[in-house]
Amino acid sequence: MSPRLPQSFIDEVLSRVDILSIIESRVPLKKSGANYSACCPFHQEKTPSFMVSPSKQIFHCFGCGKGGTAISFLMEYEHLNFMEVIELLAAQTGLELPKEHVGYKKTDEQQQLYQLMRQAAAYFYKQRGQSETVMRYIKQRGLTDDIMRSFGVGFAPSNPEPLLDILRKQGASHDLLTKTGLFVQTDRKTYRSRFRNRLMFPIRDRRGRIIAFGGRVLQSEDQPKYLNSPETPLFHKSNVLYGLYEALAATRQLNRLIVVEGYMDVVSLAQHGMTEAVATLGTAVTVDQVQRLFRVCKTIVFCFDGDAAGRKAAWRALEVLFSSIQDTWRPKFVFLPESEDPDSFVRRYGKEKFEALLDAAQDFSSYFFEALHHSYSTETVDGRAQFATQAMHYLNLMPDLLLKEVLLEQLSTLVQMPLDKLTKFLVTREQPLVEQQMTELHLDPSLQKILMLLIQNPKLVSKMEHATLCQVRKDSSGLLNQLIVFIQAHEDVTTATILEYWREKPYADLVYQLAVQNYLLDLQTLENEFQDTLKKLGQLDRELQIESHLKKARAQGLSEEEKSALMQLLKDQA
Ligand code: UTP
Ligand code: MN
Repeated sequence: MSPRLPQSFIDEVLSRVDILSIIESRVPLKKSGANYSACCPFHQEKTPSFMVSPSKQIFHCFGCGKGGTAISFLMEYEHLNFMEVIELLAAQTGLELPKEHVGYKKTDEQQQLYQLMRQAAAYFYKQRGQSETVMRYIKQRGLTDDIMRSFGVGFAPSNPEPLLDILRKQGASHDLLTKTGLFVQTDRKTYRSRFRNRLMFPIRDRRGRIIAFGGRVLQSEDQPKYLNSPETPLFHKSNVLYGLYEALAATRQLNRLIVVEGYMDVVSLAQHGMTEAVATLGTAVTVDQVQRLFRVCKTIVFCFDGDAAGRKAAWRALEVLFSSIQDTWRPKFVFLPESEDPDSFVRRYGKEKFEALLDAAQDFSSYFFEALHHSYSTETVDGRAQFATQAMHYLNLMPDLLLKEVLLEQLSTLVQMPLDKLTKFLVTREQPLVEQQMTELHLDPSLQKILMLLIQNPKLVSKMEHATLCQVRKDSSGLLNQLIVFIQAHEDVTTATILEYWREKPYADLVYQLAVQNYLLDLQTLENEFQDTLKKLGQLDRELQIESHLKKARAQGLSEEEKSALMQLLKDQA
């Protein structure tokens, strides 16, 4: 994790972009009152529940609950992560990422590395036609020119010199050459190619930049069959999905992604018209990858080879899913016939047969219970106990979901045990986060309302009288205090600035919920409500003070000063 960007930089980015134009260029918007509306791009709907507020600089969908700032929108719509969006917006608005920012001080170096990787890929691509053996291999694997081009598949000869020449002409230093991961140093001055006589698959990031390569041998006796780039400043294997850039380049809004095991599977499926396949790089799927996948679309078909290794990989994927799954996700599982992989299958039987296989994919629950059936019998009492124990172990990894309830019911039938007995074995989960925070904060309704109003219209801070401000700052949550300090310390604060300030801080969800409560209220109504609430709070404050004065009066009497204060309070009260 790189450290947080300075808040001032995020503020600056937000102040230079307009959420309306960002969304408008991607989703057709209709003006409706002070807001704009559309059919939500993040779920299927016929009547618009997606709203954009230019004054608050936020969007929100009543249907699916998605919402946030311009940054959140781009993360969701363009399937980018936070830093990727910041980079994009910074570039668009002519801002430079702060150099002193530790995680990003390598920016120049990274830019250079991207450039070098691109040169290398172009070089490999040209080399593909240079040797008879290579041409023969490509032909034998059935790869067309078109598909070679769209995936940039090339060939790396064993001699490092021509590529070294090219990269040095680009000004690549010794240090940088090493960081490409393309060379292995033999002594201080000599390099060997890491990839020698290999078919080269460039690995691209979400923005299409080449960050690594996978290289396959041409002769089956050579080892290892596939070689990947080592970890470099550009390449972190555990969060990359091979083919994702290409899949999204082919289809902007995907309905389905297919996860396969190998480079060749991705390329071969694309050649057969299924451009929505991606691969992990020879490792089990990670939580990070799973989250990336479901950010792209909600139906993910995990496709495994029909051997023991494939079964193991599938179970591993299931385990990862248990801890991160959400009700809207639709993971599916497909197993290929023994000794086939997607590449061999589609070449042998064609696209229709492969589609049929995908259509018959098992869903999450059916795969889960079937796999358990492989290890435990439900025919015997002991078997059922073991079956249930295993199942409960996994269910306890799962957040509170409808899916979990359904799985529990199913389990209860399978092991012939009443549901209420089974649920005793559930580890008690916490309340939903927002509710939990509400309780935790002891937010009384007026306080909550003030928070909501200030988040939605930060300018109201100036309408607060000093006295009320002090009173309000006594709130035990500290949240309102933070909010007021934040608003007062910044110019031109919008709801969006506030949401970004709270991103990934405690109470981020609560702040968001408050930002979209009664979303349709216009600024004038907000202001009126604000005054009312302040009055109520003031009253509450007075009541408390009067009460404490009276208490003291009864116990020990009041000083002259206190007496007149009490008189004033009672007068204000009336
Ligand atoms: P496979 O051995 O299933 O290869 O490895 P494949 O995809 O069917 O390849 P072809 O059809 O023989 O060309 C699946 C994936 O595992 C990783 C690679 O990412 C490969 O695509 N792998 C495999 C390695 O990293 N190293 C290896 O030596 C083998
Ligand atoms: Mn294969």
